[in-house]
Amino acid sequence: MKKMMIQASCRKCLQACLLLLLVGRLQGRVTAPEHLEAPVEKPFTLTCSVSRDRGESLKQVRWLDVQNQILLSYQPGNRDSVSGQQHVELATSPKDTSSIVIRRVGFRDEGCYTCIFDMHPSGSKQGQICLTVTAQVTVDSNNKTAVSGKKVSFSCSYGLPEKVTQITWKYTPAQGSSTDVASFAKRSDPMIEPPYQGRVWLSPSLSHSQLTIQPVAIHDEGCYTCLYNAHSGETKSSTVCLSTYVLPKPQVSYKTTSPGVIEANCTCVSRPPAEIVWNVERDNRTMGPPVTTQLPQGDGTTLLISTLTVQSGLLKDVSVKCLVHHKGLESPIAVSMNTKIGTALTILISVTTVAALLVMSLCFCLWKCFLRKEVD
Ligand SMILES: *[C@@H]1O[C@H](CO)[C@@H](O)[C@H](O)[C@H]1NC(C)=O
Ligand SMILES: *[C@@H]1O[C@H](CO)[C@@H](O)[C@H](O)[C@H]1NC(C)=O
Ligand SMILES: *[C@@H]1O[C@H](CO)[C@@H](O)[C@H](O)[C@H]1NC(C)=O
Repeated sequence: MKKMMIQASCRKCLQACLLLLLVGRLQGRVTAPEHLEAPVEKPFTLTCSVSRDRGESLKQVRWLDVQNQILLSYQPGNRDSVSGQQHVELATSPKDTSSIVIRRVGFRDEGCYTCIFDMHPSGSKQGQICLTVTAQVTVDSNNKTAVSGKKVSFSCSYGLPEKVTQITWKYTPAQGSSTDVASFAKRSDPMIEPPYQGRVWLSPSLSHSQLTIQPVAIHDEGCYTCLYNAHSGETKSSTVCLSTYVLPKPQVSYKTTSPGVIEANCTCVSRPPAEIVWNVERDNRTMGPPVTTQLPQGDGTTLLISTLTVQSGLLKDVSVKCLVHHKGLESPIAVSMNTKIGTALTILISVTTVAALLVMSLCFCLWKCFLRKEVD
């Protein structure tokens, strides 16, 4: 019983001792975050604070950079005493705390910084902050679309090219696994994988990489990932996806299926499937709504046939148009069944013919008149 009590009190004593030790170490110490990550090209603030013992006063604060050179020094409460390097400035901070701002973090700012508080009468106390400079991989924009046969470019950038050795572009189809498209490493030429040679180009840059495909093929649809390999073995990547379009080139054909009834087809091949609507000028002589059929083709495109049945009289009076809407078109394509244009053309030809005849007969008359006069 007694033994246990002694043990218990001993444990309490030990705990108290430990606590005292800890407090003792904390007293008069500098607190600073050990490790921080600073995004490249942004301002970054470093902060240290010191806890003062009774009777102590703070005479001077010094900051040392990653090479242990003076970065900034000042006497607290004396603004004029601030001196240091160009790319840093003193920030306002509470008593016994010191904050400096690196105006624009760069690759060379990575490393450990020391803050030194010169105290009177106890001497200097110091803390250390180690900075890791970080950057994001960014792809230029959101997902892209490209028309088959045209050109598409993807851009990818990384703010710390000094930290990476290579960039690789990978392609991932909707179904299936990723394959390499192209890569570029420092001090070498861009490398294009054999299946892409002749229609894929890669810029020789790590910080701003640009992958260009020309001409774009339907099967280029999928996602493209730019992947950076860092010296540290880490990889960083970003992805952009591509949709490939085939634009419709609609055609209209028609035939008389039974006396007085005409069947018209509006046909187009596209990717993704287009939408066909018929525009019949305010008339009720169509025989039912159009019937549209979709026929997927082997190459990823879709054949669309929209069939409209109309009374033949209709074509003489009003214009019948097939309107094709597609995501890749700014405005729909209209194909007329040539009825109204036909009439207009007939009128135009007739008018021209009549005019020509008139001019000819006038010439003839004049010539006859002159000839007569001369003879006379
Ligand atoms: C891009 O496309 C992919 C796949 O098609 C999709 O998962 C992703 O959400 C899209 N991103 C944007 C920003 O639209
Ligand atoms: C319209 O298309 C159908 C097939 O969907 C075809 O059977 C018909 O002959 C076509 N008509 C015309 C006028 O081309
Ligand atoms: C179509 O319109 C005409 C007048 O423009 C009308 O006389 C006729 O009854 C209409 N037919 C139908 C089926 O609605």
